[in-house]
Order: sequence, then structure tokens, then C-alpha cells
Amino acid sequence: MPPHEQSRCYSDIVVPEDVVKVKKSQGKLKRHHPHSHLRMLFLLLMSLVITSVITICCMMERLRLESSLHSVLNGLLNADLIHSHDGFIFADMDRHHKKSLRPLDIECKLLGTLYMHLAARQSHDLMEILRGAHVIVQNDNGFYYSHFQNLSSNIHFRFSSHYSIVQQYAIPQGPLLDTILLGITHDNSSWFQFEGAAWDPFTRPMDSLIHVLNYFEYTFRRVQIGPLGTSIHTDQSPLVIPFRSFNNIKQD
Ligand SMILES: *[C@@H]1O[C@H](CO)[C@@H](O)[C@H](O)[C@H]1NC(C)=O
Ligand SMILES: *[C@@H]1O[C@H](CO)[C@@H](O)[C@H](O)[C@H]1NC(C)=O
Repeated sequence: MPPHEQSRCYSDIVVPEDVVKVKKSQGKLKRHHPHSHLRMLFLLLMSLVITSVITICCMMERLRLESSLHSVLNGLLNADLIHSHDGFIFADMDRHHKKSLRPLDIECKLLGTLYMHLAARQSHDLMEILRGAHVIVQNDNGFYYSHFQNLSSNIHFRFSSHYSIVQQYAIPQGPLLDTILLGITHDNSSWFQFEGAAWDPFTRPMDSLIHVLNYFEYTFRRVQIGPLGTSIHTDQSPLVIPFRSFNNIKQD
């Protein structure tokens, strides 16, 4: 076995030299930076502690959002759904809902409409929507883009990283749903998505900071970050919902 013999010969000669070198450099280190190892260890420990704290906080936040999401779904399943004259469906969930999570009127209107008209009573789609999925309503000729603008007079122009052939709008919601963003795809279908934290650095600096953190998470994990969780449906892999006109829905 010549290679084995060779390597043994090699190590027999070389290792002592290496050891001498290492010993020399250790001696140097000890003389010039006596605490550098301790400092390194401290920094390592600190970063480990900080990473763990952030990870635990993120996990607790996820659990909190997941439980809020289920609470909203339960509220919606038991809510009275009231058709209003403007085409929205108001989900009256006050009597069934935990007080801390009680949605505002605008959120009740949006939740009822999403549940009945868009998710067609499918809780899976609704959950993805509330987790911030990028949703396209296929071939609606911009209907939902206009329809959702009727939700509120508190609506403003927005720029975002998403594509739209028209001006994008953001409509602020309550503490539960935060903000909905609206636009139209190149084939004239409406798109919308909920945002986890609004971009409004002057009036809501803390939310805007979270928005930036969300953006980094979106970039690294390739997930969409919504008000009640995260969704795999980014604008690269949107949740596509077929458009059903209101007449069809009433017949259902
Ligand atoms: C898109 O939909 C709007 C509203 O129905 C319509 O007026 C417009 O002509 C459509 N545009 C295209 C490019 O199809
Ligand atoms: C929005 O509201 C206006 C005024 O009430 C109404 O004329 C219009 O049809 C509504 N648009 C949609 C898409 O529901």
C-alpha cells in the first residue's frame, strides 16, 4: 500500500513543523491579545442569545396569528351574513367574536364579501387570502378593483413592488386586517392582497419599520406576509380565483 506509506511518511515529517508553527502563533496571540478568545466567545454567545430570542418571538407571533385566524374563521362560520344594497356582504360576527378581535365595520363587510363572493365559502382559500396571498380574480375586467374602492372613502394611491396596469390603491382596515392593496394585471384581471403592516412612515413609523422587515422576510423566504400569517402565494405563484358574477352567486 504505497499511498498509505507515503502519507504516513509525509505526516511524520510535516506535523512537527505545523505544531511548532501553531505553538508559535498561539504564543504571539497570548502576548498581544490576551482576551481575544474570551471576547470572541462572548460575541458568539451574545449572537446566539439574540438569535434565539428573535426566533422564539417570531414563533410566538406565528402562533398568535394562527389562533387569531382560526378565531376569525369560526366567527365567520357562525356570523349572520347580510347582503347590502352596494353589493357587499356584511358578516355580523359581533355576538360570536372575542372582544379583543372584534373587527371594524369595514372589515366585517370585506370578510363577508371575501367569504361568500370570492372564496365561495371555502375556508382554505379564505385562510390563504387572510395570510396575505396575492390573489387574482380571473377575467373580472377590473370589477373587484373598482368594487373594493367603494369600501371606504379612506383610500390612497400606492406604489408597491407588484405589477399593475393602473394606479394601485391601498385601503386601510382595522387592527385585524391592516391594509388591502389593489391593482389590475396585464390581462385586465383585478388583483388584491392584504399587507401585514402598512407603509406609511410619517403617521405610522413603527408599522412601516415592520413593513421593511416583512419585505426582507418576503425576499429571503419567498413568502407573502399578511395580517394573519404568511402565504406561499406571491405574485409569482398567485392564488387564482375564477370570477363569478353576483347573479350566479345568488342562485347558488
Ligand atoms: C378592462 O376592463 C374595463 C372595465 O370593464 C374595460 O373598460 C376595459 O376596456 C378593459 N380593458 C381591456 C384591455 O380589456
Ligand atoms: C361603486 O359605487 C358607485 C356609487 O355608489 C356605484 O355607482 C358603482 O357601481 C360601484 N362600483 C362597483 C364596482 O360596485
